[in-house]
Amino acid sequence: MKIISDPQEMQTAAQELRRAGKSIGFVPTMGFLHAGHLSLMNIAREKADVVVVSIFVNPAQFGPNEDFATYPRDFERDEQLCRDAGVDLLFYPAPAAMYLPDHSVWIDEEKLSGGLCGAARPGHFRGVCTVVAKLMNIVLPDCMVMGEKDAQQLRIIRRMVRDLNFPVEIISGATVRAADGLALSSRNRYLSAKERAEAVCLSRALNRAQALVESGEYRVSQLEAVIWAEIEKTSGSIDYIEFVDDETLEPVDVVEKPVLAALAVCFSGARLIDHTVLKSIQFSGTAGAD
Ligand code: PAJ
Repeated sequence: MKIISDPQEMQTAAQELRRAGKSIGFVPTMGFLHAGHLSLMNIAREKADVVVVSIFVNPAQFGPNEDFATYPRDFERDEQLCRDAGVDLLFYPAPAAMYLPDHSVWIDEEKLSGGLCGAARPGHFRGVCTVVAKLMNIVLPDCMVMGEKDAQQLRIIRRMVRDLNFPVEIISGATVRAADGLALSSRNRYLSAKERAEAVCLSRALNRAQALVESGEYRVSQLEAVIWAEIEKTSGSIDYIEFVDDETLEPVDVVEKPVLAALAVCFSGARLIDHTVLKSIQFSGTAGAD
């Protein structure tokens, strides 16, 4: 596995690979890798000749009062995990190499970024879109693999790739969870033992909402109440619980089309997000017809 820190050198390596007829599969990350990241690398491995992973804790996507400085980092461990996963090229740039002091071009997605994490974290998706666009221009991937775990991020990047004509196929990977249902996240390590035990409330609450929909309850007010009740049993404080159209991310009152139920819960150690896509039962009109 080759490790490259210089963006120019990475771009030249990518150009050479493409000239040699190799397809590039890319997994962008902020490091502190876990089984969720590794599952995306496996998908990239299946789809492309060469797998490139980036590790870059992107300062532009953290707000002034957020955890950029304390975001977990362990390059040596990550490097070994990438080697074990069969990664070919690891791109590990320094912030100063990615953002020159007079950097002045940003990408703003204007429709899907307003709610959910975008409302809670102003400027976050501007930072994500800008860095992902830069990374795609440096790594020149044929396909880029991203996790469904960050549902809003995935939808925004798909929109950016569509609207700005990036010649990159976006592939999504399912959320990898711990045995109790908690979605794996680099930030989970900051939960105390008590909080870690309580953190299962996110997936439990979403599963309860899903079960209610399956039993015919389509009113968002009722589903939201069930989620609130589940989270309120814990020390976590609710940042948001939202029910939005899965395509437009506009708020809805009833589950008719697929609805993204998303929530963010703050524990003292970390802010956690999770989501599920709720679907009402579609009656075909033929079953049991007389
Ligand atoms: P990071 O949080 O490191 O996540 C990198 C990729 O791993 C993202 O596509 C994310 O959705 C995916 N991922 C995280 N946890 C996962 C899990 N439990 N199961 C499956 N996939 C999971 O997301 C970012 O970094 C950054 O915003 C980035 C896109 C790299 C831009 O800076």
